Amino acid sequence: MRRLKRLAGEAACDYVKDGMVVGLGTGSTVHYTIKKLGRMVGGGLRVIGIPTSIKSENLARQCKIPLSSLHEHPNVDISIDGADEVDPKLNLIKGMGGALVREKIVASVSRRLIIVIDDAKQVSRLGSKSPVPVEVLPFGWSTVLKRLEKLGMEVELRKSRKIPFVSDNGNYILDCRVKEISSPKRLESRLNNIPGVVENGLFVNLTNLVLVGTDMGLKTVR
Ligand code: A5P
Repeated sequence: MRRLKRLAGEAACDYVKDGMVVGLGTGSTVHYTIKKLGRMVGGGLRVIGIPTSIKSENLARQCKIPLSSLHEHPNVDISIDGADEVDPKLNLIKGMGGALVREKIVASVSRRLIIVIDDAKQVSRLGSKSPVPVEVLPFGWSTVLKRLEKLGMEVELRKSRKIPFVSDNGNYILDCRVKEISSPKRLESRLNNIPGVVENGLFVNLTNLVLVGTDMGLKTVR
């Protein structure tokens, strides 16, 4: 598994060119991307990274990748990120690492979004394996939970060591099991319409390329 993540994560660095502003995703696959990018920077590549989480920011700093913010660099040339599920139309579920809000903001201003996964993340329909993470304000979280249940979902407040998991933005995450996601786009806007919801982990029509680590080698899906 780690080997496949590494294969995909490192392969994404081939798409990074000198002078680019690069969105740095979050998770155990992009971990390998950031590390390799650090080695490329050590070898003379000039890039500016926009991290999507405190974890990725810390790793990028350790790897000596110059960093900036969306305020200073509002246009991102390329973003590289992981995903929890990828469907045949390259729509995604993201956020099991808890960084979905910043990841979606950075993806939305990126000229190209490259997703790096191992082949266990490919599904024929979103929601087959992973819940849809929904980031909510701590104020009124249980009200939002009830609204989501009324939409027919099985909802769980994400916990870390028995207390609510808190995102980098100071919010909670509700993991929503959906029986059948027939239209990811419709569900995405439906979820975001509920007062108290900050953002959800459905990434629709944002991905340009998926690099998949498989036992047979690297697979590229466009
Ligand atoms: C972080 O919030 C997520 O969106 C990750 O990108 C996603 O969970 C994939 O993570 P792994 O690469 O660790 O599986």
